[in-house]
Amino acid sequence: MSSTLRINGPARVIGDITLPGDKSISHRVAMLASIARGTSRITGFASSADCQATLDCIEKLGIPVRYAPGEIAIEGRGLDGFDVAAEPVQLWAGNSGSTIRMISGLLAGASISSQIDGDSSLRRRPMRRILEPLRLMGAQIEAREDNFPPLFISGRQLKPISYQSPIASAQIKTCVLMAGLQASGNTTFVEPTQSRDHTELMLPVFGLPVSIKQTAGGQKLSIEGGRELSPVNYHVPGDLSSAAFFIAAAVLAQGSRLNIKEVGLNPTRSGFLDVLGRLGATISRSNIRHSAGEAYGDLAIAPSELSSSGGTAEISGPLIANLIDEIPIIAVIATQVAGRLEVRDARELRIKESDRIKTVVDGIRGMGGTIEEFEDGFAIEGPQQLSGARVQSHGDHRISMAFSIAGLIADGVTEIEDADCAAVSLPEFHSLLSGLTGEGIVRVIKDG
Ligand code: S3P
Repeated sequence: MSSTLRINGPARVIGDITLPGDKSISHRVAMLASIARGTSRITGFASSADCQATLDCIEKLGIPVRYAPGEIAIEGRGLDGFDVAAEPVQLWAGNSGSTIRMISGLLAGASISSQIDGDSSLRRRPMRRILEPLRLMGAQIEAREDNFPPLFISGRQLKPISYQSPIASAQIKTCVLMAGLQASGNTTFVEPTQSRDHTELMLPVFGLPVSIKQTAGGQKLSIEGGRELSPVNYHVPGDLSSAAFFIAAAVLAQGSRLNIKEVGLNPTRSGFLDVLGRLGATISRSNIRHSAGEAYGDLAIAPSELSSSGGTAEISGPLIANLIDEIPIIAVIATQVAGRLEVRDARELRIKESDRIKTVVDGIRGMGGTIEEFEDGFAIEGPQQLSGARVQSHGDHRISMAFSIAGLIADGVTEIEDADCAAVSLPEFHSLLSGLTGEGIVRVIKDG
């Protein structure tokens, strides 16, 4: 059964929150723990449905996952330790591009055969970007129309490669490194501009050094495969991409006051905060610490007048990779910025959980806003008054959450159809939002 989220705008957010652990980091720590030798203990693991899909895949691969309050333990059996009852083992990635693309690197080098599939959105997402490097490593991997899930993988001994990626994608990078861990020798990955660096920060925590060099072709990473990983005790900081929705609400809604504790502040993820700062937002960072190479700290956010300072605020080039998941909420913010804000070089948005350029454009227009669409982005002239409307989530968690926040600054009632999909990244989204907005502002209505 799906639900509609009804928001009675305008409303403000007041309070202190801590978010569940970062989704990107959680996927990685679970996958690496599954091939380490021994028990890894992870606290702060993401509550997201996507990360649960990763844990379910790992369990189906015969790796015990134990759940205790606030902690999960993964009992890895070392490289090539997967143990399945029947082959090909059937794995389900749900809505999660990270799960299917990253775990395929592990499956390609394991001595089992597997099939991995997902929901209708995942079945539309391109996989050729991982098929190409994996095949160069000697993987036996097939896909529907040679590009889409399901993937059919017949695991075998892989050989290391040196791969120049055409796209700055942390999922491709992680897939190649996951495969490289099982191939004896030196695997090298070069990306045109830097994507999120969680994998290269995490591998040394599992005892595997990563060499990082800047070259003419971009950043070059190398690892020595075929070595056992050691288990870890790992704490996952709060998810900045989930925090972004609440930060936007506090910056935009008059009378708001919000503190977010222990949230990830990795510089390859915090482009959103940098852009807000450039636009004039008041966000103070404090208590900055590092754990396992990851920066995290506390944020205090207050409402601010935002402006593009007379010109166009342009978000493009290498910055895009550092805020790719925040672009839907940036579109909502842009409606409240005095001046023009333009997003360019973001073609990748067309092949996310939905075509996020189109779903953002439809949502803004549906709420009475004006937005110009480009093949690789959009432009918005603000400030604009949004009006409450019925908005489609298109089954995309970030569209659902972005337009819920739009509902807080709009006049009148906004309804987000099929709003449950927020659980793909943040099952607590609706309860957190209603806690911060107070009685009667946000209501979940069960459909059917
Ligand atoms: C992710 C990388 C990004 C991002 C996705 C998570 C990751 O995708 O959009 O939500 O955890 O590595 P791409 O690698 O396709 O850019």
